[in-house]
Amino acid sequence: MTPPWLLGYDVRMQKIHVHVPAADAEYNVMVGSNLSREVAEFVVERFHPHTCAVITDTNVAPLHLSTVESALRAAGTKPISLMIPAGEQHKNISTLGTIWDFLLNHRWERRLPIVALGGGVVGDMTGFAAATVLRGVPLIQMPTSLLAAVDAGVGGKTGIDHPLGKNLLGAFHHASLVAMDVKFLSTLPRRELVSGLAECIKHAVIADENLFHWLDVHLPQVLESHPADLTELIGWNVRIKAGIVMKDPYENSIRAHLNLGHTFGHAMEAVVGYDKLPHGYAVAVGMLAASRLAVKLGYCNPELPGRLESMIHRAGLPTCIPELDAPSILSAMYSDKKVAAAKLRLILPAKIGEVKVVTDVPEAAILDAIKSVTTAGAAVG
Ligand SMILES: NC(=O)c1ccc[n+]([C@@H]2O[C@H](COP(=O)([O-])OP(=O)(O)OC[C@H]3O[C@@H](n4cnc5c(N)ncnc54)[C@H](O)[C@@H]3O)[C@@H](O)[C@H]2O)c1
Ligand SMILES: [Zn+2]
Repeated sequence: MTPPWLLGYDVRMQKIHVHVPAADAEYNVMVGSNLSREVAEFVVERFHPHTCAVITDTNVAPLHLSTVESALRAAGTKPISLMIPAGEQHKNISTLGTIWDFLLNHRWERRLPIVALGGGVVGDMTGFAAATVLRGVPLIQMPTSLLAAVDAGVGGKTGIDHPLGKNLLGAFHHASLVAMDVKFLSTLPRRELVSGLAECIKHAVIADENLFHWLDVHLPQVLESHPADLTELIGWNVRIKAGIVMKDPYENSIRAHLNLGHTFGHAMEAVVGYDKLPHGYAVAVGMLAASRLAVKLGYCNPELPGRLESMIHRAGLPTCIPELDAPSILSAMYSDKKVAAAKLRLILPAKIGEVKVVTDVPEAAILDAIKSVTTAGAAVG
């Protein structure tokens, strides 16, 4: 079934135009299979570079780096590549320093582009390096994880972690091109694919009930990394995310909606340890907590948490993370960098496809919502 929003689009290769006037940024997002040649031709036509850097990580390099390098060479530029260690624990100043050194040692120039080939960690760090080296050089994002494709790859946020918290250092730096090659996603470990699905479910709950219905039907194909379904899914999610970013690039208003499930989720990640709990798992459980809180406060229909729980479960995501200490999670929620003036601002679903920003929620109600996802067999609704 082709959803109405897709009529007129080519589902095999989608091109989404992103224009963020407030950030003076305009670029295309391509989604499809085997995009390396298109990316390489864009790089050469736009920048005429004698060289171009590809930053990737130790997991992605053996799988996909040679494809991108060959395409760049065939298009007429000479790529140089840097492989950084894979994993969130390396999204720090030390790895950023390695990227800076690599570029400066190669006498980088203002017009020479940098390609980020990898998941959100590579994208965020390469983006930050591109924002800072010589006060900004062109960036091409080639996200290789579902999470990076539907979330990190679009929106211009770049950064690194600090011992005091995640993503505390960074800059806004939009890419010149974003290319999501779904063929690269075929090697993604299932846990990572599933983790990315949490952000897709989040987009559906925030902005589009039709996406929720589509996911209901297409989850099995998506979980098998079927290229056409991944293309459709990523294209749809990019439209939702880019639509929000274009209206509010610096998160003064509706961009905050994208934090649905994240205040709860980040707190859980902080308590459990970032390397132990995949981000998407925390977001899934966080959305469920948010939906139960929304019912309790009378903002949404009592059947919503059940629909959401069933979708989360079918996507292979957890619906409960037992044995977490609910009061510790509540106090970690206050340490989230998005907590304005020690006031919790929560994004809660009003219905599938619409959210509300809520402040002044009684702590006891938040605690109950946390308990509902941290206590095995807790009451639903
Ligand atoms: N800038 C933003 O707007 C934004 C938005 C959301 C998340 N993020 C950031 O993104 C990061 C999470 O992204 P992620 O989940 O992609 O993490 P990640 O980059 O660590 O990738 C997850 C794992 O999958 C591996 N991998 C990636 N692509 C692969 C492929 N095609 N085949 C095999 N293995 C592959 C990676 O090496 C890594 O081990 C976090 O640091 C988060 O803060 C940024
Ligand atoms: Zn997220």
